[in-house]
Amino acid sequence: MPNILLVGNGAREHAMAEAVLRSTEKPLLFSYMKANNPGIASLSVKTKIGSYSDLAAITNFATENKIEFAVIGPEDPLNNGVVDALAITGIPAVGPTKSLARLETSKAFTRNLVSKYKIPGNPQYKVFKAIGGVEEFLNTLDGIVLKPDGLTGGKGVLVQGDHFATPQEALTLCTQILTESSSLIVEEKFDGEEFSLQCLCDGQTVVGTPLVQDHKRRFDDDKGPNTGGMGSYSMPDHSMPFLKPSDIEEGLEITRQVASALLKETGSPYKGIMYGGFIATKNGAKLLEYNARFGDPEAMNILPLLKTDFVDVCRHIIEGTLDKLKIEFEQKATVCKYVVPKGYGLPADHPDAASSRAKIEIGNVGKARLYYSSVDKKEDGLYLSSSRAIGIVGIADTLDAARKIAEEGVKAVSGPVAYREDIGTNALIQKRIDHMKKIRKD
Ligand code: GLY
Repeated sequence: MPNILLVGNGAREHAMAEAVLRSTEKPLLFSYMKANNPGIASLSVKTKIGSYSDLAAITNFATENKIEFAVIGPEDPLNNGVVDALAITGIPAVGPTKSLARLETSKAFTRNLVSKYKIPGNPQYKVFKAIGGVEEFLNTLDGIVLKPDGLTGGKGVLVQGDHFATPQEALTLCTQILTESSSLIVEEKFDGEEFSLQCLCDGQTVVGTPLVQDHKRRFDDDKGPNTGGMGSYSMPDHSMPFLKPSDIEEGLEITRQVASALLKETGSPYKGIMYGGFIATKNGAKLLEYNARFGDPEAMNILPLLKTDFVDVCRHIIEGTLDKLKIEFEQKATVCKYVVPKGYGLPADHPDAASSRAKIEIGNVGKARLYYSSVDKKEDGLYLSSSRAIGIVGIADTLDAARKIAEEGVKAVSGPVAYREDIGTNALIQKRIDHMKKIRKD
């Protein structure tokens, strides 16, 4: 009966907790969270609430509870060096060290690594520490993307057409970014369709998991502000309807080469999740960014499908023996829809902004799975926060059946909440297919 530590408090970690507890080894789960997640708490023998920067609190909780290994959910504790701190006490983890987590925490590090090791997938890009030369480079690009270096909670990227129109406006934004961030990355904008390729990595071997597509925009039809992700789907064949097999192979090959480059560059094996945000373009798969963790919501699509024992998967990651394990996922479709406060992602003066902190009720979600995210459980019931509240997941043989299960589940949540109806619909998927046909000129 292994004692396992989970660090994190979102719906992603609720799905991770469930995956741990499905193990035939009957593990005992100990959870360190920055806010109480009632779903994770109900699956844990012990929980501790604390900050993700309080590494002593995390390591003490781990040593007191004789933890065999830890699984780290979010990027913040990785960025703070939780894996390094646990290693000093002799506790291994699924998750990269602070240095290796630069894969996510420094976009400049990753672009330069990919470039240095001649790995395909990078756009034209330059990293700037001062404004000199920015204007000249902006004027060479057909489409522009601006990224501050460092963690931005998925919301720091500025894209031409969405956030600004002209190179001149981009230049003003670059000046602003450089006052707040030590480095600025200016990149060529790709046209295509995005997909999430979450890979397991033990430092040498990279194993792909079913592809997922996330929906960042707040409203149906990809309208409104960017969010942490409003929902996602995956297909029974583990591909995406708008991809060619070569796009997937390219995404995997880039990830394999990045894992090997990380080892050469740092001398340490990357043990954890390499979640590549890729975009299929007319010239194949290109790399948007890496995250050093499972996606949220994407973890909720893939972990419930995992047939291989998750504890076994974690051990093989830690021991560097992933090549010895057959990792299988059910051939099912999944649709995840996030239930959010009506005011989520909207300006504070918007009439719906007051929905945050309101009370919600959850009825019968039917066949759907429910993963708690930012909810506050008080004595008299559940309350919203200002962030995504509940991930509802439908799983079935077809995408349409999975979507219907998720819809039924979402409708069981009452209160001032919202969600995206179009995620998992044939109409939205057809739009993606048509977009790719147009840009590939098929
Ligand atoms: N799905 C976006 C993220 O996890 O960063």
